[in-house]
Amino acid sequence: MMLLVRFCGPLLLVSYCSLVFLAVARTSITDPSEVNALLAARNSLIDPFKHLENWDKGDPCTSNWTGVVCYDTIGTDGYRRVQELQLLNMNLSGNLAPQLGQLSQLKILDFMWNELDGSIPKEIGNISSLRLLLLNGNKLSGALPDELGCLSNLTRLQVDENKISGQIPKSYANLSSVKHLHLNNNSISGQIPSELSKLSSLLHLLLDNNNLSGNLPSELSNLPELRILQLDNNNFSGSEIPATYRNLSKLVKLSLRNCSLRGAIPDFSSIPDLSYLDLSWNDLTGTIPSKLSVNMTTINLSGNRLNGSIPGSFSNLLILQRLSLENNLFTGSIPANIWQNRSFNTNDRLTLDLRNNSLSKILGKLNLPHNVTLRLGGNPVCIDAYVSNIDQFCGSEAEGDGTTESSTNYTTTCPIQACPVDNFFEYVPESPVPCFCASPLRIGYRLKSPSFSYFLPYIYLFEKYLTSALELEPYQLYIDSFIWEEGPRVKMYLKLFPAWNDEHSHIFNSTEVQRLRRMFTSWNFRRTDFFGPYELLNFTLVGPYSEMNFGTQRTRISKGVWAAITLGAIACTVVASTIVTLLIVRRNARYHQNLSRKRLSSKISMKVDGVKFFSFKEMALATDNFNSLAQVGRGGYGKVYRGILSDNTTVAIKRAEQGSLQGQKEFFTEIGLLSRLHHRNLVSLIGYCDEKGEQMLVYEFLPNGTLRDWLSAKAKEKLNFGMRLNIALGSAKGILYLHTEANPPVFHRDIKASNILLDSKLIAKVADFGLSRLAPVQNDEGTLLNHVSTVVKGTPGYIDPEYFLTHKLTDKSDVYSLGIVFLELLTGMHPIFHGKNIVREVAMVHRAGMMFSVIDSRMGSYPSECVERFGSLALRCCHDTPENRPSMLEVVRELENILKMMPETDAIFSESMYPYSGTSASSSSFYTSINQYASSSVSGSDLISDVTPTINPR
Ligand SMILES: *[C@@H]1O[C@H](CO)[C@@H](O)[C@H](O)[C@H]1NC(C)=O
Ligand SMILES: *[C@@H]1O[C@H](CO)[C@@H](O)[C@H](O)[C@H]1NC(C)=O
Ligand SMILES: *[C@@H]1O[C@H](CO)[C@@H](O)[C@H](O)[C@H]1NC(C)=O
Ligand SMILES: *[C@@H]1O[C@H](CO)[C@@H](O)[C@H](O)[C@H]1NC(C)=O
Ligand SMILES: *[C@@H]1O[C@H](CO)[C@@H](O)[C@H](O)[C@H]1NC(C)=O
Repeated sequence: MMLLVRFCGPLLLVSYCSLVFLAVARTSITDPSEVNALLAARNSLIDPFKHLENWDKGDPCTSNWTGVVCYDTIGTDGYRRVQELQLLNMNLSGNLAPQLGQLSQLKILDFMWNELDGSIPKEIGNISSLRLLLLNGNKLSGALPDELGCLSNLTRLQVDENKISGQIPKSYANLSSVKHLHLNNNSISGQIPSELSKLSSLLHLLLDNNNLSGNLPSELSNLPELRILQLDNNNFSGSEIPATYRNLSKLVKLSLRNCSLRGAIPDFSSIPDLSYLDLSWNDLTGTIPSKLSVNMTTINLSGNRLNGSIPGSFSNLLILQRLSLENNLFTGSIPANIWQNRSFNTNDRLTLDLRNNSLSKILGKLNLPHNVTLRLGGNPVCIDAYVSNIDQFCGSEAEGDGTTESSTNYTTTCPIQACPVDNFFEYVPESPVPCFCASPLRIGYRLKSPSFSYFLPYIYLFEKYLTSALELEPYQLYIDSFIWEEGPRVKMYLKLFPAWNDEHSHIFNSTEVQRLRRMFTSWNFRRTDFFGPYELLNFTLVGPYSEMNFGTQRTRISKGVWAAITLGAIACTVVASTIVTLLIVRRNARYHQNLSRKRLSSKISMKVDGVKFFSFKEMALATDNFNSLAQVGRGGYGKVYRGILSDNTTVAIKRAEQGSLQGQKEFFTEIGLLSRLHHRNLVSLIGYCDEKGEQMLVYEFLPNGTLRDWLSAKAKEKLNFGMRLNIALGSAKGILYLHTEANPPVFHRDIKASNILLDSKLIAKVADFGLSRLAPVQNDEGTLLNHVSTVVKGTPGYIDPEYFLTHKLTDKSDVYSLGIVFLELLTGMHPIFHGKNIVREVAMVHRAGMMFSVIDSRMGSYPSECVERFGSLALRCCHDTPENRPSMLEVVRELENILKMMPETDAIFSESMYPYSGTSASSSSFYTSINQYASSSVSGSDLISDVTPTINPR
């Protein structure tokens, strides 16, 4: 099909398009050459989570689009063209295709935070309309193409945090609109071209952490708008800081740490807004400039050969946070009025690091306010320290880096019960009404180059700035946590809450979500130089927002949003129509459904060993034409039917719904995987059907239903403690097998009581595994990636909170979910009931030593020490931090040990609980095999168990 698109696509399309234009008014058709470019670009990417399956469809940018691609309105030639490509944080690898250069109207090209390698194609330089080129946070290598210098409308060039080498092209002097040039954290070498001084719009120049050398060009002082100049960790061997830099009159931050600079510090006193000056770890000589802007927060001159004394005029610096002068040759006295002239607010802090100089006394009274840290070790003033009572400041080692700060945790006084406790909702901390419960949007955000050393004094200003930029009320933003990172940078997690209004909505509507996302990704905020440039690290939608899954257009298709225009009238070959439908989209749900079914049905026959192929007809016969009476359940994948095959075996048939249909290749990959998984505690796959655009999976049928049914109050039969323990052990063994024996390993991701089925002997069988994604495997370098990072999936109440927060799925996420099942076994409760969360409730009574008050009364009598151990195992599985949870292997071992402690009679269930609702065939054999049940489920087809069964088979 690709070949067709390339060679005869345009021809077919031209005739096709003219037809369509006659037939259907106002249909937007993408420029065929752009479709080719998009397909080529997609083919050079590796997209593990299929975010880009339908990216050649896409939204008009004029609506509040949510996709990866958006188009402009139809041009005069009747074609629409791609305007924005936004593929932020999508786990993409592979490279950038040169064909991207053919997207002639592109304004935003955003591939931030993926794993792309290869080089930046020079063809991107052809996209003269480009405004934002955002490639930071990848593994791109090679040199920066000269051709990018032609991008005269480019305002933002971000290629930081890659492996770019080579020199900065002189042609970049022609980026006449560029305001933000972020090339930091690469391996760029050579001289900074003095031609860059022509960049009359440049605001932020970040070139730190490269291998730049040569002179520091004095011409940069001609940059009329420059606010931030950050060049740390380069090697300008022996260059001086050009005195002309004093003319950078709008400078807010100058950071030249560890740049091998020599000579004197120029006089910066005429730069009124200068806040942050870091010239540390160079070879500077001479004295400290005695006058600096009153806006200084940070002066770092440590690790030089500066001499003279500390200027008394520094007492005018009323918002100073850090004065680092350590490891120099300073002499004279320390002016105490630097801290004594100040009044400190709660969050204010001042650190004075003066260690390893020749300072001989303190001028003025010492009495240091709480908020001031003074370090004097390695100075003559410390020789008689105990006499002058300054001993405590004379330690020579640094006590931490002084930038450890933490946000205060929000504690609610609201009743726990009133907010749904599934991690997606919480009380809005500063809500205008008490106990307003809502679901926040969670956003990873980072300040790349802030002009302060401590964040807390500015956090309020920052919140105000951000909320006004986002057009939100102040209470709608909550900074969940922040942390200082190397750079120094500040990384934070933001929560944005919906507004409290008359509609009492607890979530943002989709228009609002789109608007907010767009605010962040279009860089349209009002700029603040003090906070510096920001980075959007992630904007992933979970919980109630997961339906609005950006970039995963599959979801949207499943909701029937997209479709193609009427095709029927056009005499094209089937292949041509398929191509055309890829290119032409229009909102029309009804049509799409037929189409995608048809596409799937153009099948290539495939065989999978060990499983049987069923025809659609067989499936229809088995289920009485999918009669609703045959439906026994419904999962994420689709409806589940009980079917009777022609040989009279009963099976469970899972029929994929429109949204769950997969490409044929994926479907067979999954069947191939499922067919290789065999364990007594896993439901086995018997066969599949892949015909008539349908996908079905055929499993063994377990007449006894799900564990959830057995635990519900309506259940006819009761499970005693021994049975429950055996069910717990069986489930754990099944999952352990998936984690350790399956190749590749499988994380279940959706363990819950309704996914644990019981066979006629009440042996637990885990269902629905492998229907999601595989566990992480080794990457090319052979290192094990120990998590899968993706959109959060799972069932509320069972989702690992750590996975929820970090999106990193590990084997411990399954341990958590299984722990919830254990708690259900123990208490009979649901994971979430009346707004209460089972973990919190059980943990509370456990702490209070009242565990037995929550035990399911339907369980009958039980040995208390076994229940105690089982309960505490369950709680450990549900620990908030994954490291504190036991491994699945440990879970199995502990359950086996608990079973060993059980008195023999308790481990077997009494006959009184019989009869079952099961088939008569199995029930008759059941009477005679009670003990088999007990023994087999203890030993089983054990892959790890080294314990002898407690109850020996008789
Ligand atoms: C897009 O969102 C903005 C802000 O919410 C709104 O004013 C505008 O009407 C929306 N446009 C469309 C086409 O929905
Ligand atoms: C550059 O931007 C200007 C102003 O927005 C616009 O008029 C012009 O068409 C753009 N140039 C290109 C090549 O898109
Ligand atoms: C610097 O200080 C002056 C005077 O206090 C003030 O007006 C100005 O806003 C400050 N600049 C910055 C960037 O904070
Ligand atoms: C700063 O000083 C104030 C007043 O003495 C005090 O309340 C506050 O806790 C101090 N803050 C820090 C960070 O030490
Ligand atoms: C806030 O809570 C987190 C996790 O519960 C904890 O690690 C952190 O120390 C707490 N911070 C403060 C300031 O209490």
